[in-house]
Amino acid sequence: MSSSDLDHKIETLFSAEHISERVDALAREIIADEPGDILVVIILKGSFVFAADLIRALERNGASAQVDFVTLSSYGMGTESSGQVKLTHDLSEDVTGRNVLLVDDILESGRTIAFAVETMLTRNAASVKTCLLLDKPTQRKVDIEADYVGFSIDPEFVVGYGLDLAKRYRGLPYIGIVQDD
Ligand code: IMP
Ligand code: MG
Repeated sequence: MSSSDLDHKIETLFSAEHISERVDALAREIIADEPGDILVVIILKGSFVFAADLIRALERNGASAQVDFVTLSSYGMGTESSGQVKLTHDLSEDVTGRNVLLVDDILESGRTIAFAVETMLTRNAASVKTCLLLDKPTQRKVDIEADYVGFSIDPEFVVGYGLDLAKRYRGLPYIGIVQDD
């Protein structure tokens, strides 16, 4: 047991190797659809580890990606979404006329990514695509699907590889399920 899982029992769902293979495949899918310039908009904080691997996979596979960040927040300290999405830190780039790829960690209710897509369209992006590391399809509250999904999962609470529970576990190299007991 490592020092980071002293309080919760965490069962590995996707290993670091498994994630790495999937991220490379996602990059190839993204490039096949959009071989031109891409502005990768990373939705903080949960997707920063995934996004760091994805942009390097994009470069390795021949894409030219620029990067910007936005912080959206819908969760407090627990595991329940408050339902309201807030923009707490804005982009520094102008997205007008750009091919935007939104990158986020988990598609659950759909509210976060729907808000992000709407924001990019309102700002006149030329195109907006979405890339989500994880999808919990049974949890949707808004009618939206991602263009690219790493893994579809059951509605358990997961941590690691950037994902937190009350600000912990983001640094785990794998994705794991937090056990109830
Ligand atoms: P939604 O699609 O608007 O409901 O929000 C998805 C957001 O909720 C993600 O970006 C995460 O920040 C957070 N989230 C949802 N499920 C989990 C989970 O299992 N672990 C950690 N964060 C989660
Ligand atoms: Mg998030």
